[in-house]
Amino acid sequence: MDTQTHWEKIYTEKAPDAVSWYRPHLETSLALIEKAAPDRSASVIDVGGGESTLVDDLLARGYENITVLDISQTAIEANRKRLPKASERVHWLVADITEVELETFAYNVWHDRAVFHFLTTANHRVAYVRQVARAVKPGGHVIVSTFGPEGPTKCSGLDVVRYDAASLHRQFGLHFRLLGSSKELHQTPFGTVQQFLYCYCRVEMSQSL
Ligand SMILES: C[S@@+](CC[C@H](N)C(=O)[O-])C[C@H]1O[C@@H](n2cnc3c(N)ncnc32)[C@H](O)[C@@H]1O
Repeated sequence: MDTQTHWEKIYTEKAPDAVSWYRPHLETSLALIEKAAPDRSASVIDVGGGESTLVDDLLARGYENITVLDISQTAIEANRKRLPKASERVHWLVADITEVELETFAYNVWHDRAVFHFLTTANHRVAYVRQVARAVKPGGHVIVSTFGPEGPTKCSGLDVVRYDAASLHRQFGLHFRLLGSSKELHQTPFGTVQQFLYCYCRVEMSQSL
Protein backbone atom coordinates (compact mmCIF):
# COMPACT_ATOMS: atom_id res chain seq x y z
CA MET A 1 0.00 0.00 0.00
CA ASP A 2 1.46 3.41 -0.86
CA THR A 3 1.90 6.14 1.75
CA GLN A 4 -1.12 8.20 0.76
CA THR A 5 -3.46 5.19 0.63
CA HIS A 6 -2.23 4.11 4.06
CA TRP A 7 -3.05 7.49 5.64
CA GLU A 8 -6.38 7.88 3.85
CA LYS A 9 -7.39 4.52 5.28
CA ILE A 10 -6.33 5.53 8.80
CA TYR A 11 -8.27 8.78 8.76
CA THR A 12 -11.31 7.18 7.12
CA GLU A 13 -11.48 4.38 9.68
CA LYS A 14 -10.47 6.09 12.93
CA ALA A 15 -11.91 8.94 14.95
CA PRO A 16 -9.51 11.87 15.56
CA ASP A 17 -9.05 10.90 19.21
CA ALA A 18 -8.64 7.16 18.50
CA VAL A 19 -5.11 7.33 17.10
CA SER A 20 -2.04 6.82 19.27
CA TRP A 21 -0.57 10.27 18.58
CA TYR A 22 -3.74 12.11 19.65
CA ARG A 23 -3.63 14.63 22.42
CA PRO A 24 -6.24 17.33 23.02
CA HIS A 25 -3.63 20.07 22.63
CA LEU A 26 -0.03 19.98 21.40
CA GLU A 27 1.26 22.03 24.34
CA THR A 28 4.98 21.60 23.66
CA SER A 29 4.56 22.46 19.99
CA LEU A 30 2.51 25.55 20.84
CA ALA A 31 5.05 26.78 23.38
CA LEU A 32 7.91 26.37 20.91
CA ILE A 33 6.02 28.08 18.08
CA GLU A 34 5.19 31.03 20.35
CA LYS A 35 8.84 31.21 21.43
CA ALA A 36 10.09 31.08 17.83
CA ALA A 37 7.55 33.56 16.49
CA PRO A 38 5.78 35.76 19.04
CA ASP A 39 4.65 37.99 16.15
CA ARG A 40 1.18 36.80 15.11
CA SER A 41 1.80 37.75 11.47
CA ALA A 42 4.56 35.11 11.24
CA SER A 43 3.96 32.42 8.63
CA VAL A 44 3.74 28.98 10.20
CA ILE A 45 3.51 25.65 8.39
CA ASP A 46 2.37 22.49 10.18
CA VAL A 47 3.75 19.64 8.09
CA GLY A 48 1.77 16.41 8.38
CA GLY A 49 -0.67 18.17 10.63
CA GLY A 50 -3.22 15.36 10.34
CA GLU A 51 -6.36 16.14 12.33
CA SER A 52 -4.51 17.71 15.25
CA THR A 53 -5.90 20.76 17.05
CA LEU A 54 -2.67 22.72 16.65
CA VAL A 55 -4.28 24.85 13.94
CA ASP A 56 -7.28 25.62 16.22
CA ASP A 57 -4.94 26.71 19.01
CA LEU A 58 -2.78 28.83 16.71
CA LEU A 59 -5.89 30.59 15.37
CA ALA A 60 -7.13 31.13 18.93
CA ARG A 61 -3.78 32.75 19.78
CA GLY A 62 -4.16 35.14 16.87
CA TYR A 63 -1.81 33.64 14.26
CA GLU A 64 -2.88 34.98 10.89
CA ASN A 65 -0.73 33.11 8.40
CA ILE A 66 -1.05 29.36 8.95
CA THR A 67 -0.53 26.56 6.44
CA VAL A 68 -1.48 22.97 7.23
CA LEU A 69 -0.07 20.34 4.87
CA ASP A 70 -0.92 16.66 4.93
CA ILE A 71 -0.76 13.76 2.51
CA SER A 72 -4.32 12.80 3.49
CA GLN A 73 -7.21 14.63 1.87
CA THR A 74 -9.52 13.07 4.48
CA ALA A 75 -7.56 14.64 7.34
CA ILE A 76 -7.52 18.07 5.68
CA GLU A 77 -11.28 17.87 5.01
CA ALA A 78 -11.93 16.91 8.66
CA ASN A 79 -10.06 20.04 9.77
CA ARG A 80 -12.07 22.22 7.41
CA LYS A 81 -15.32 20.79 8.82
CA ARG A 82 -14.17 21.24 12.43
CA LEU A 83 -13.30 24.89 11.73
CA PRO A 84 -16.08 25.92 9.36
CA LYS A 85 -15.53 29.70 9.43
CA ALA A 86 -11.91 29.95 10.49
CA SER A 87 -10.82 27.42 7.86
CA GLU A 88 -11.04 30.19 5.26
CA ARG A 89 -8.13 31.87 7.03
CA VAL A 90 -5.89 28.79 6.75
CA HIS A 91 -3.93 27.60 3.70
CA TRP A 92 -4.64 23.89 3.31
CA LEU A 93 -2.34 21.72 1.22
CA VAL A 94 -2.80 18.06 0.36
CA ALA A 95 0.67 16.90 -0.63
CA ASP A 96 3.57 14.58 0.07
CA ILE A 97 6.17 16.69 1.82
CA THR A 98 9.01 14.89 0.04
CA GLU A 99 7.59 15.85 -3.38
CA VAL A 100 5.62 19.09 -3.13
CA GLU A 101 6.96 22.35 -4.58
CA LEU A 102 6.81 24.80 -1.70
CA GLU A 103 7.46 28.48 -2.22
CA THR A 104 11.03 29.60 -1.50
CA PHE A 105 11.58 31.25 1.90
CA ALA A 106 7.83 31.30 2.60
CA TYR A 107 7.78 30.36 6.28
CA ASN A 108 9.04 31.75 9.56
CA VAL A 109 8.27 28.52 11.39
CA TRP A 110 8.25 24.90 10.22
CA HIS A 111 6.51 22.49 12.59
CA ASP A 112 6.44 18.70 12.29
CA ARG A 113 5.22 16.35 15.00
CA ALA A 114 5.60 12.67 14.13
CA VAL A 115 6.15 12.86 10.37
CA PHE A 116 9.92 12.94 9.74
CA HIS A 117 10.35 9.68 11.67
CA PHE A 118 8.35 7.83 8.98
CA LEU A 119 11.05 8.60 6.41
CA THR A 120 13.02 5.39 6.55
CA THR A 121 15.07 5.89 3.37
CA ALA A 122 17.96 8.34 3.01
CA ASN A 123 16.48 9.66 -0.27
CA HIS A 124 13.25 10.70 1.43
CA ARG A 125 15.08 12.30 4.34
CA VAL A 126 17.33 14.27 1.99
CA ALA A 127 14.28 15.42 0.01
CA TYR A 128 12.57 16.53 3.23
CA VAL A 129 15.59 18.48 4.48
CA ARG A 130 15.93 20.13 1.07
CA GLN A 131 12.31 21.28 1.40
CA VAL A 132 12.96 22.79 4.80
CA ALA A 133 16.08 24.56 3.55
CA ARG A 134 14.15 26.02 0.62
CA ALA A 135 10.88 26.88 2.30
CA VAL A 136 12.00 28.38 5.63
CA LYS A 137 13.27 31.95 5.68
CA PRO A 138 16.86 32.47 6.80
CA GLY A 139 16.60 33.23 10.50
CA GLY A 140 13.38 31.20 10.69
CA HIS A 141 12.82 28.27 13.02
CA VAL A 142 12.30 24.55 12.57
CA ILE A 143 10.54 22.42 15.19
CA VAL A 144 10.67 18.70 14.53
CA SER A 145 9.37 16.03 16.87
CA THR A 146 10.02 12.31 16.37
CA PHE A 147 9.97 9.27 18.59
CA GLY A 148 12.91 9.39 20.99
CA PRO A 149 15.54 6.66 21.52
CA GLU A 150 13.18 4.81 23.87
CA GLY A 151 10.08 5.42 21.78
CA PRO A 152 8.24 2.75 19.78
CA THR A 153 9.78 1.26 16.63
CA LYS A 154 6.48 1.49 14.76
CA CYS A 155 3.63 3.96 14.51
CA SER A 156 0.33 3.35 12.76
CA GLY A 157 1.71 -0.02 11.64
CA LEU A 158 4.64 1.63 9.82
CA ASP A 159 8.33 1.40 10.69
CA VAL A 160 9.86 4.57 12.11
CA VAL A 161 13.38 5.82 12.78
CA ARG A 162 13.97 6.89 16.38
CA TYR A 163 16.29 9.79 17.15
CA ASP A 164 18.12 11.55 19.93
CA ALA A 165 18.88 15.26 19.56
CA ALA A 166 22.34 14.69 18.03
CA SER A 167 21.21 12.13 15.46
CA LEU A 168 18.16 14.19 14.45
CA HIS A 169 20.24 17.35 14.15
CA ARG A 170 22.79 15.46 12.01
CA GLN A 171 20.05 14.79 9.46
CA PHE A 172 19.59 18.52 9.01
CA GLY A 173 23.20 19.70 9.11
CA LEU A 174 25.12 22.74 10.17
CA HIS A 175 22.91 25.32 8.44
CA PHE A 176 20.41 24.49 11.17
CA ARG A 177 21.60 25.66 14.57
CA LEU A 178 20.23 23.47 17.34
CA LEU A 179 18.81 25.87 19.94
CA GLY A 180 17.22 23.28 22.19
CA SER A 181 15.78 19.82 22.56
CA SER A 182 13.54 18.03 25.02
CA LYS A 183 11.93 14.68 25.53
CA GLU A 184 8.24 14.24 26.24
CA LEU A 185 6.35 11.25 27.53
CA HIS A 186 3.16 11.15 25.53
CA GLN A 187 0.18 9.38 27.09
CA THR A 188 -1.73 7.69 24.25
CA PRO A 189 -5.55 7.44 24.35
CA PHE A 190 -5.01 3.73 25.07
CA GLY A 191 -3.16 4.35 28.34
CA THR A 192 0.34 3.57 27.03
CA VAL A 193 3.29 5.95 27.09
CA GLN A 194 5.51 6.92 24.14
CA GLN A 195 8.76 8.85 24.31
CA PHE A 196 8.89 11.78 21.88
CA LEU A 197 11.89 13.99 21.14
CA TYR A 198 11.54 17.66 20.20
CA CYS A 199 14.33 19.57 18.44
CA TYR A 200 14.18 23.28 17.93
CA CYS A 201 16.56 24.88 15.37
CA ARG A 202 17.21 28.18 13.66
CA VAL A 203 18.08 28.39 9.98
CA GLU A 204 21.41 30.17 10.04
CA MET A 205 21.89 31.46 6.52
CA SER A 206 20.70 31.13 2.98
CA GLN A 207 22.27 28.31 1.04
CA SER A 208 22.30 26.85 -2.43
CA LEU A 209 18.94 25.18 -2.95
C1 LIG B 1 1.45 10.34 13.35
S1 LIG B 1 0.52 11.45 12.43
C2 LIG B 1 0.83 12.99 13.27
C3 LIG B 1 -0.25 14.02 13.02
C4 LIG B 1 -0.03 15.35 13.73
N1 LIG B 1 1.23 15.97 13.36
C5 LIG B 1 -0.12 15.19 15.23
O1 LIG B 1 0.90 15.32 15.91
O2 LIG B 1 -1.23 14.95 15.72
C6 LIG B 1 1.50 11.61 10.96
C7 LIG B 1 0.87 12.51 9.93
O3 LIG B 1 1.77 12.72 8.85
C8 LIG B 1 1.08 12.60 7.62
N2 LIG B 1 2.09 12.17 6.63
C9 LIG B 1 2.75 10.99 6.62
N3 LIG B 1 3.65 10.98 5.61
C10 LIG B 1 3.54 12.19 4.99
C11 LIG B 1 4.20 12.78 3.88
N4 LIG B 1 5.15 12.11 3.20
N5 LIG B 1 3.86 14.03 3.51
C12 LIG B 1 2.88 14.70 4.20
N6 LIG B 1 2.23 14.20 5.26
C13 LIG B 1 2.56 12.95 5.65
C14 LIG B 1 -0.02 11.60 7.88
O4 LIG B 1 -1.11 11.71 7.00
C15 LIG B 1 -0.39 11.95 9.32
O5 LIG B 1 -1.39 12.93 9.37
